[in-house]
Amino acid sequence: MAYDNLEVKTKKGIVILTINREKALNALNGKTMEELHHFFSISAPKRRTMKGIVITGAGSKAFVAGADIKEFLQLDVEAGATMAKKGQDIFSLIENFSKPVIAAVNGFALGGGCELAMACHMRVASENARFGQPEVNLGIIPGYGGTQRLVRYVGKGKATELMLTGDLLSASEALQWGLVNHVVEAGQELAKAIEIITKISEKAPIAVAQVLHCINAYYDKDVDGYAFEVDAFGRTTGTEDFKEGATAFIERRKANFTGK
Ligand code: CAA
Repeated sequence: MAYDNLEVKTKKGIVILTINREKALNALNGKTMEELHHFFSISAPKRRTMKGIVITGAGSKAFVAGADIKEFLQLDVEAGATMAKKGQDIFSLIENFSKPVIAAVNGFALGGGCELAMACHMRVASENARFGQPEVNLGIIPGYGGTQRLVRYVGKGKATELMLTGDLLSASEALQWGLVNHVVEAGQELAKAIEIITKISEKAPIAVAQVLHCINAYYDKDVDGYAFEVDAFGRTTGTEDFKEGATAFIERRKANFTGK
């Protein structure tokens, strides 16, 4: 499928997925959400040799300035709920992806943009990034998982303040609040995200995937995370990579992981 609003490029085995609507500050309209759904459900799982994904926004001003407000006036109770459910499902695909997905936040990450960044496994922010959930200014609430994920990252008190005031956080505040992993000089966010994924790509891929799934299990109210970890640990001990990793340690050499 050819995308109108997503640009997909590969750099050093890492997919750079750019939300490409610079004139609208990369706002997530319905078409962009459909394309994200296609990418994460169909295209990305087929890219077996891919090391991971970096999501960023076109231009230097915005990562993503939210859902597209210009499509809002057609919403009613039913259409609004449908939109939120679809968005949540797409962002869950990102959160549950088996390879690392990092948001390289290069400017405004507001509303659905902040929610997109939070659905990624990690966030690297440029020093000019701004984060916020300003939906209350529009008479709505975050609908793509923001009320849930923001609480996880920054805690109840800070999440409440951010979502009720609509205030924006600077990159350094986001770092202090635990919302982002790193803040870098503007223009360096992509390089930093690539550096992190490159480092992870040297580890055993099945172990990496199982860590991601176990972390998500912690937040799944229907799953016993400790039991999930027991099973996942068992699965990793059954892999060829586990034998290779342990043997390489004993033989004092670098492990050569194959993903089996
Ligand atoms: N939707 C649609 N268009 C948007 C947009 C959005 N979320 N954000 C920015 N744009 C458009 C503007 O309309 C403008 O386009 P035009 O020139 O054609 O009018 C262009 O992008 C540039 O924006 P501004 O002129 O507003 O730029 P600025 O520098 O003055 O302000 C900003 C930047 C502070 C990010 C401001 O654009 C803004 O507040 N945007 C809206 C942020 C927001 O409220 N996001 C939440 C959306 S709701 C949501 O996301 C719900 C959910 O959880 C699913």
